[in-house]
Amino acid sequence: MRWLEVEVEGLRIRVPESVYPPELDTALMLRCLRSAHPAGKRVLDVGTGSGALAVAAALWGASEVVATDVNPMCKLAVEVNSRRYGIQVEFRLGDLFQPVAGERFELITFNPPYLAEEPRDLASAAWAGGPRGRRLIDRFVEGVGEHLTHGGTALLLQAESNDLEETLNLAKTLGLSVTPVGSQKVAFDRLWVLRISLP
Ligand SMILES: C[S@@+](CC[C@H](N)C(=O)[O-])C[C@H]1O[C@@H](n2cnc3c(N)ncnc32)[C@H](O)[C@@H]1O
Repeated sequence: MRWLEVEVEGLRIRVPESVYPPELDTALMLRCLRSAHPAGKRVLDVGTGSGALAVAAALWGASEVVATDVNPMCKLAVEVNSRRYGIQVEFRLGDLFQPVAGERFELITFNPPYLAEEPRDLASAAWAGGPRGRRLIDRFVEGVGEHLTHGGTALLLQAESNDLEETLNLAKTLGLSVTPVGSQKVAFDRLWVLRISLP
């Protein structure tokens, strides 16, 4: 099997083939994760991919880290990267919040597939988010309130082309507080990280 080694925000992350390698969106999420102070918190990283965010949360002192993904190869990536840094991350295979049914977390991160394209297989499901790129964004916002503790926060990345207002309105309709906390220009688009919390 082919592996890549990628440096992102000072972390060295190994990535097996078919798993999403850390990109500019991962780096932006890492900066926002650090600012959200994971130390002492129970953290969930949805769609963990290589495990970069989950490993960082554990390295930065999270009390417990659970990482989920639909791609079974991510289990291997999370194991290899956790071992390298001598930290513990629990990987659970499954769709969105299904592996954490009934559980709540103080900090939840999700860098979803957000490009406007239909996924063809597990590898493309890492970046292809349906016709408008919103499929996982909408499902995450609709479900996240059931998995946040009171006072807890979620960090969700999306592109400006996915329609920022639509996400802000959906979150408000569901009674969630939402604020943009990070942004970065990329090629022909702009990435945003939204902080979502229970009021
Ligand atoms: C853009 S990648 C982000 C990977 C990693 N968190 C990062 O920031 O580098 C999106 C990840 O979401 C996963 N994913 C796609 N659909 C999912 C679903 N329905 N439930 C959970 N994870 C999913 C993909 O397999 C992929 O690993």
